[in-house]
Amino acid sequence: MSDSQRGNVLRYFAVILAFGGVVALGIGGYVYSGWYQIGADEPHTMPVLRVLEFLRERSIERAARDISVPALDAPQLLIAGGPDYNEMCATCHLKPGRTQSDMSVGLYPAPPDLTNHDEEHGGPEAAARRQFWIIKHGIKASGMPAWGPTHDDQRIWAMVAFLQKLPGLSEFQYQILTARGDADSGHAH
Ligand code: HEC
Repeated sequence: MSDSQRGNVLRYFAVILAFGGVVALGIGGYVYSGWYQIGADEPHTMPVLRVLEFLRERSIERAARDISVPALDAPQLLIAGGPDYNEMCATCHLKPGRTQSDMSVGLYPAPPDLTNHDEEHGGPEAAARRQFWIIKHGIKASGMPAWGPTHDDQRIWAMVAFLQKLPGLSEFQYQILTARGDADSGHAH
């Protein structure tokens, strides 16, 4: 490489570095300025939303990839998952006959309506794995809590099993499937 070629390459890198520096300063200055709206009553700007959603889905996909899914059609699982869903999840994720709640309206990101949810995430098995991981670990900086610290895997799989049936349930079927039998009701109603 001649001296003049070497000079060109150096100039090229200097321009890229300078450009990167300006962009980084711009982003840093914007963050520092406090102009970004962090209130839950105003949506993210489109670029921020896209980045956050991409980050969430990549992270979950990676973390959940080795989870093996048990048979989810066992009736005991459904029966066990229903009452837990009704007590712990329905305020945010709704139930048949309920189209909104204070939580579903006020939280941002909004909790998806799980009674009417047909988003496919790479087939039923991948969807179940994703749901299990989300229920166990929660999602940072959203209203979705981690239920793993207080519930074992068996109970979480029972809720995943229930979620597979939830979108097709009538109000009446929901009531039956979520009623806690007297024998196992450690909870007051
Ligand atoms: C306080 C409100 C709240 C409660 C209670 C709650 N969630 Fe969530 N959940 C959320 C929010 C908000 C999201 C969306 C997070 C996001 O978009 O990043 C979410 C996301 C999810 C998702 C991912 C949905 C999808 O396909 O993207 C599942 C599955 C889920 N929750 C299941 C449950 C279950 C099961 C329970 C009860 C054990 C529960 N949640 C309790 C707020 C809640």
